[in-house]
Amino acid sequence: MISDNLTEAKRVLDSNNLVAIPTETVYGLAGNAYNVEAVEKIFALKKRPHYNPLIVHIATADQLNQVAKAIPEAALTLALEFWPGPLTLVLKKQSIISDAVSSGKDTVAVRVPNHPLTLELLKRIDYPLAAPSANPFGSISPTNAKHVRSYFENHLELILDGGDCERGIESTIIGFENETPVLYRLGSLALEQIEDKIGRVIVKNQNNDASPASPGMLSRHYAPATTTYVTDEIEKLLKAHSDKKIGVLLFQHQLKTVVEHQEVLSTAGDLTEAAKNLYAALHRLDSMKLDLIIAEKLPDTGLGKTLNDKLKRASKSANL
Ligand code: TXA
Ligand code: MG
Repeated sequence: MISDNLTEAKRVLDSNNLVAIPTETVYGLAGNAYNVEAVEKIFALKKRPHYNPLIVHIATADQLNQVAKAIPEAALTLALEFWPGPLTLVLKKQSIISDAVSSGKDTVAVRVPNHPLTLELLKRIDYPLAAPSANPFGSISPTNAKHVRSYFENHLELILDGGDCERGIESTIIGFENETPVLYRLGSLALEQIEDKIGRVIVKNQNNDASPASPGMLSRHYAPATTTYVTDEIEKLLKAHSDKKIGVLLFQHQLKTVVEHQEVLSTAGDLTEAAKNLYAALHRLDSMKLDLIIAEKLPDTGLGKTLNDKLKRASKSANL
């Protein structure tokens, strides 16, 4: 059921079942982070491999000590600056965080999401919420309640409807290795904004499928079912595939060339707007039974870096 009933959401969560929750980034598939039965239901429903740990969502930065310890100064600075908001911190975990949540690691990923409905829900319950993005493993993240329903149909008691996600791209993940800040996943908080506050961050967002430091770094992830290419030379690729039914994903300007469908992310050329629209556009393209999706590479600065990273992971043989 899709509804905005917080009492019902609390009831379902209190009985160790799952609720899809809105956040400013993407919808999450949430359960009681302190209950292993609920956490196992998340892995089962998502078909998520157990080596891929979950993010724990708390109501305020004041609760950070309940789930994490030995918190570096720079982590506190970031928490105070950007929470509630699209930043996840990977910190040493308290023992209350089970191996089920952390996939056996001694760290926990934690954030305060910025959505009024979910913040109110977090205040009403007396446990944090473990919540990965509410999509089957490897699929595009959902940015509205209907996306969630299309994935999980009758397998979820409740999808809490908080409208379209404001940011539309997952949180940025920062960890610490010997107190040195490390970027594990590009997200909707631009790296430049983080470096403004704490100085240089080491980027470890590269593809390493054998041993991903953060499994969101798997090289193919967030992928549509339709074959997707990312390119600088869209016209050339269109010519090479002129026999196919093609949908294109563009940053700012429509193409004059005739194709089956065109999605423009921001006619104003605004990367924040493009981020908000990216996954919804991919969901639409993916539902159109196309032979091919061709996406235009975006300007590679600020949030554009994140968007190009997501497109690269959505594509088969990207030439980024
Ligand atoms: O915006 C978001 O972060 C959304 C909303 C729902 O909060 N959540 C989300 O969760 O994107 P998920 O599970 O799809 O991605 C979480 C990422 C995964 O790549 C996981 O590997 C990484 O966080 N992660 C979780 N715990 C970690 C840890 N202890 N160390 C390193 N990476 C971790
Ligand atoms: Mg995800």
